[in-house]
Amino acid sequence: MNILVVGAGGREHAIGWKINESPKCDELFFAPGNAGTSEIGINLDIKVDDFNGLKEAIVSNNIKMVVVGPEDPLVKGLIDFIEEDEELKGCMTIGPRKSGAMLEGSKDFSKAFMARHGVPTAKSKTIDKDNLDEGFSFLDGLSSPYVLKADGLAAGKGVIITSDLGEAKNTLKDMILDQKFGAASAKVVIEEFLSGIELSVFVLTDGHNYKILPEAKDYKRIGEGDKGPNTGGMGAISPVPFAHDGFLQKVEDKVVYPTLKGLEEDGIFYQGFIFIGLMNVDGEPYVIEYNVRMGDPETEVVMPRIKSDLVELLEATATGQLDSIDLHIDERTAATVMLVSEGYPGSYAKGHSISGLDMTKDTVVFHAGTKVVDGQTTTNGGRVIACTGLGVDMKEALKKSYAAVKTIDWPGKNYRSDIGFDL
Ligand code: AMP
Ligand code: GLY
Repeated sequence: MNILVVGAGGREHAIGWKINESPKCDELFFAPGNAGTSEIGINLDIKVDDFNGLKEAIVSNNIKMVVVGPEDPLVKGLIDFIEEDEELKGCMTIGPRKSGAMLEGSKDFSKAFMARHGVPTAKSKTIDKDNLDEGFSFLDGLSSPYVLKADGLAAGKGVIITSDLGEAKNTLKDMILDQKFGAASAKVVIEEFLSGIELSVFVLTDGHNYKILPEAKDYKRIGEGDKGPNTGGMGAISPVPFAHDGFLQKVEDKVVYPTLKGLEEDGIFYQGFIFIGLMNVDGEPYVIEYNVRMGDPETEVVMPRIKSDLVELLEATATGQLDSIDLHIDERTAATVMLVSEGYPGSYAKGHSISGLDMTKDTVVFHAGTKVVDGQTTTNGGRVIACTGLGVDMKEALKKSYAAVKTIDWPGKNYRSDIGFDL
């Protein structure tokens, strides 16, 4: 079967890498992909939200399965578009329809969903220009720090946490009245602050049955010791030591099960990945957010731990037969360290030649922001390369990752040398 992975990051390289291991995959395509994906498949120069461009590629390349990496095309309705098109009949899709993608596309929607279905989450209130005063009094009633979230998609930048009440009120006003995050912050969700340790849980569902994939912990801040601005993610570890069986059972019972049942009750047919961002608050799971896709860089540690055939799993997902599949997970620990461009998450240069890529050993190198220019692999984004090591424990996995991190180089390469420090 010919398969298309939509997206261009480390997540899509990792998904494609795992798909490529399967005997069920004939030709593998990426749209648009990166330098790494061009080594395992064919990159198509099509943007992730160019639905007609994707359609043409699906038809002309006889693609029978489309796996969507990022949230943006899902929220815009790529799955609905494929399902409703006569010429694309019989093409399997992995990802929710627009209705399910709202779980990530609107924080207000997801908070109301959780409230309706009894999924534990922080207390919150949604504010827009018509009830700004209620927002101020809701903030008055909370204790510091204060959490403000843009309702819509804001590329991971739409969350502001401040310990100053005055600043929280000003930010609320800026977000709503001055559109600090554009239309995404026309509505703002104010949330109670949850104190605990975060982890990411991934679920694959066929609309009825589900499999819980390996959990992971992501390192979001740019600086060592988790300081400085948020990034897309600077590294990840799986499994997460504090996520013992008892805690994960609570996650399944109190979060995963009610979420999937809630989707069914609301008449939202959902096939694909659900990434649940959780806070472990004194041993109890609280949902911070839903994402309707896999995480990046979490995928770079989750995929290497899946021993089962990913194409079989995805096929079962698209055909509602996940209950017939056994999911086998590698017991070992996977660690990934992200190499980023100097300046990221602020502004950064592109186009530096990357050296050492073919000299790494015992590590899987996933490309994120890379591009081949005149036969040379160059930097093409903020997050550039993820180096994943597998080991009997976190220490061994990290040792392998960091060996690759040191081998790969370009001017201004940056990374965190403390991934896993808190575990
Ligand atoms: P989100 O985009 O919703 O994942 O939020 C980004 C980050 O903000 C999360 O990964 C958390 O570290 C933090 N965060 C979000 N909501 C809360 C909350 N209610 N309490 C504490 N931290 C939060
Ligand atoms: N690593 C966090 C995310 O993918 O949203």
